[in-house]
Amino acid sequence: MAVPKEKRNHVENLRGKDGKLRVIDASMYSGKTERLITMAKRFERSGIPTQAFKHPIDNRYNGPTTLNSHSGLSHPCEAYAHPFEVYQHIKPETLVVLWDEAQFYTDPDDPHKAHQLHQAMILTVEQLVHEGRLVVIAGLGLDFKGEGFGPMPELLAHASQVEKLTAVCAHCGSLDADRTQRLIDGQPAPYNSPLIVVGAQENYEARCRDCHDVPGAPSFHDLLASFLEE
Ligand code: ADP
Ligand code: TMP
Ligand code: MG
Ligand code: ZN
Repeated sequence: MAVPKEKRNHVENLRGKDGKLRVIDASMYSGKTERLITMAKRFERSGIPTQAFKHPIDNRYNGPTTLNSHSGLSHPCEAYAHPFEVYQHIKPETLVVLWDEAQFYTDPDDPHKAHQLHQAMILTVEQLVHEGRLVVIAGLGLDFKGEGFGPMPELLAHASQVEKLTAVCAHCGSLDADRTQRLIDGQPAPYNSPLIVVGAQENYEARCRDCHDVPGAPSFHDLLASFLEE
């Protein structure tokens, strides 16, 4: 996208600054995608060359060529399943990289491939930042089990800025929902169900820490008891 003449100084100022990694980490329904869409529209209005990306497994709502929020907002994006493909498609003039669904750059069935993907994600993001770009990543820090999801914990550790959002707990109504509850036929999904299941209202709710329920999850008291028995 050509930068209008009158915006050039502003863009040059941005390029002059060090690159930055911002990570938006939150449960489902907390407004991560809305936030990226708002940023994309603002940067574009301001003449700052921006590209938006996500993982193509996210085929909800309008499919993989747009960022789609649960509230019906959308914005064009490119979808690639490997972080290096994202890097290959970065335009030289791009100053802002908005990247959604970061938790999916993993492999639930192969720890070695998962490690390679997480490493590729970190190296790609670090390279983009090193080149002086603002990189904004959004994703689920925690999976339905309440455990670190894909490369998100490592991305959070590399971030220059972290933004935590919350949703409304679908169980008790509190404003502090920072977990995602997976439901199977309306019941809490067990700990051993698969890591990746794309979905929305039909199988996921936002819940607070107290209302989050994972049958079969390792329990503090059970593990403490066996530790004390040893
Ligand atoms: P995320 O990408 O974090 O899943 P989105 O940006 O796609 O979230 O959607 C946020 C929108 O979801 C809210 O503005 C609201 O309209 C809707 N929403 C649905 N359920 C909830 C909830 N439990 N708490 C807050 N917002 C919700
Ligand atoms: P969202 O945060 O934009 O709403 O999208 C999160 C996506 O992640 C959604 O498709 C459901 C999926 N998901 C999993 O695959 N496994 C999980 O453990 C959780 C919590 C979500
Ligand atoms: Mg989203
Ligand atoms: Zn609650």
